[in-house]
Amino acid sequence: MIYFDNSATTKPYPEVLDTYRTAAEQFFANPSSIHKLGGRSEELLKKSREQAAQLLRVKPQEVIFTSGGTEGNNFAIKGTAFAFRHRGKHLMTTRVEHPASLRAFEQLEALGFDVTYLEVDRNGRISLDDVKKALREDTILVSVIHVNNELGTIQPVKEIGQLLKDRPKTLFHVDHVQGFTKVPLDFHEANIDLCTISGHKIHGPKGTGILYKREGIMLSPLLAGGGQEFGFRSGTENLPAIAAFVKAMRLSLERAQNGGIARLRNMTDRLRQALASHPLLSFNTPSGASAPHILNLTVKGIRSEVLVHALDRQGIYVSTKSACSSKTQEPSAVLLATGLSEEDASHAIRISLSFENTMDEVESFLDIFMQTIDKLETVME
Ligand SMILES: Cc1ncc(COP(=O)(O)O)c(C=O)c1O
Repeated sequence: MIYFDNSATTKPYPEVLDTYRTAAEQFFANPSSIHKLGGRSEELLKKSREQAAQLLRVKPQEVIFTSGGTEGNNFAIKGTAFAFRHRGKHLMTTRVEHPASLRAFEQLEALGFDVTYLEVDRNGRISLDDVKKALREDTILVSVIHVNNELGTIQPVKEIGQLLKDRPKTLFHVDHVQGFTKVPLDFHEANIDLCTISGHKIHGPKGTGILYKREGIMLSPLLAGGGQEFGFRSGTENLPAIAAFVKAMRLSLERAQNGGIARLRNMTDRLRQALASHPLLSFNTPSGASAPHILNLTVKGIRSEVLVHALDRQGIYVSTKSACSSKTQEPSAVLLATGLSEEDASHAIRISLSFENTMDEVESFLDIFMQTIDKLETVME
């Protein structure tokens, strides 16, 4: 099996599963219970939060554990809109956000908020100038995806953060789900107020994540109840999953620092180099300002689904577009936003790598991929 669909989800590290099992067995008590067992769980939760904070270089009280990227984005976007609606009704985002952001903005529009969707260029990038021009007196939030999940394009997050520095009434949220561990981002340097990460994209358990919330920002909670997570996210904490997620954070960051990012880049460079001259292929992922683990390409004349299934039959796993919308037949909205034709967008696939992939897998993939498109091309003729 060659698994190149890591932007959809990753396989948990064995150590992550070990941590999950140990925590589930030995720390099953509710961290809010006042007895000794509850105290032990509370202590593990505290330690997990401290370690996560240290890894993100933020304060423990700025770490809110969530159920993943969808919740993080919804909480950041709606939590800001609801909390600051008296200050302003204008929100800004981009055309190429993940549905976990886009659908939240659409819900807010239905409630009377005014949303600006920034357009992107051929590479899927917004322009700083457009951000500047769209800012208004009543803009309460700018929300931008760091690394695009379909294209791998990196947005100028640091520059946007600098631009917003002297606007304390405009919060800055970054969807860092695809970038985390692969494209370093210093939250302070980029002046980020809110930042979403997700556990299952970095070999952690599904249903885990963090919303970084700069100290002092009062968001309106989406989940009201027992007051867990500093009152911002009620619900009994999923402690085994949290502990396992923090383990995945540490292991993935270690891999990134020990040459992992360079290895990812070498692998996508090799794919590019081997595929560049093929007459049917064109790359949708830009060669500059893109993440090291994502390569999106169009195979002329072969529909994405046909190619994905043909590769699947040979034990190779890639995807058509983002996992959550890949079952619909419509071409990717992200690719269309870059100006790609409907036809080219319907013939695109995404290859996404992880620290677990190897150059040997890339070479085997290339052999099978070339043979497969040659075969399919003959059938299509
Ligand atoms: C950029 C981005 N944001 C948010 C999400 C949603 O994350 P989750 O699956 O953890 O809810 C994803 C998942 O694909 C993503 O790629």
